[in-house]
Amino acid sequence: MPIPSASRPASGASVAVRVGALLGRWWYPVVVLLDRIPGPVSWRSWNARRQGRAFDRRYGTDTQAHAAVAALGLSPALARHAVHYEPSTIPKVQRALRHLRLPHREYVFVDVGSGKGLVSLLAARYPFRRVIGVEASSALCRIAERNLALYRLRGVLRAPVDFVNANALDHEYPAGKRVVYLYNPFDEMLLETLVERLVRQNGVQDTVVVYVNPAHRHVFEKRDAFTTLYRDRTLVIYRIAQ
Ligand SMILES: C[S@@+](CC[C@H](N)C(=O)[O-])C[C@H]1O[C@@H](n2cnc3c(N)ncnc32)[C@H](O)[C@@H]1O
Repeated sequence: MPIPSASRPASGASVAVRVGALLGRWWYPVVVLLDRIPGPVSWRSWNARRQGRAFDRRYGTDTQAHAAVAALGLSPALARHAVHYEPSTIPKVQRALRHLRLPHREYVFVDVGSGKGLVSLLAARYPFRRVIGVEASSALCRIAERNLALYRLRGVLRAPVDFVNANALDHEYPAGKRVVYLYNPFDEMLLETLVERLVRQNGVQDTVVVYVNPAHRHVFEKRDAFTTLYRDRTLVIYRIAQ
């Protein structure tokens, strides 16, 4: 089963490159060059990367450098299904948090596959009951802890934050009201298992799922249990029907 890229789940070559390939070998290099001239999409991703770098400069954190699956120190069984570390972009996380119109104090926010902790740090600027980052890589968890310590110094946290070094499939998710954040931590097979567990867990009053760059949205949408609260090109917010 192909493992998705976290950031470009569904796209392959751009339209310009595909057209170039159709036109033949003379046009192809020209179209590839044209494709590199910043248009609205590349502008957005350039701007998002710029914001990520500015965040790290401002807080002294390390959230932006990617890490390949081989560098995560995962067991072979986990690595087979895992996606590399790549942070969510700040504008996407902020958009998701803005669209979560709920009483934050009643909800626990869980980032599944939290990496270096950027999403948890941004979520904790809202007064959630608690913010939890669950990450399988102990090396990334250590970086997240360090990032949290640096961020805490700035006095911007409005929620307690914990990073848990665990396989997200073994983790005991809080009952009660919760927001589950996913940025393609693993492949479809593990996502199916996780979603099944979230749906079946007893004692839960509300589960809201934020799914960024939803590569496997059909895992949610084939189940009657999920209703869509919000959707745009790169973000879906679901709720498990009560
Ligand atoms: C695409 S990154 C997303 C990081 C973070 N959620 C964000 O949006 O900035 C995916 C993360 O999932 C982690 N991961 C992969 N498989 C996992 C598993 N079974 N349990 C917990 N974390 C996992 C990877 O180590 C990686 O840090």
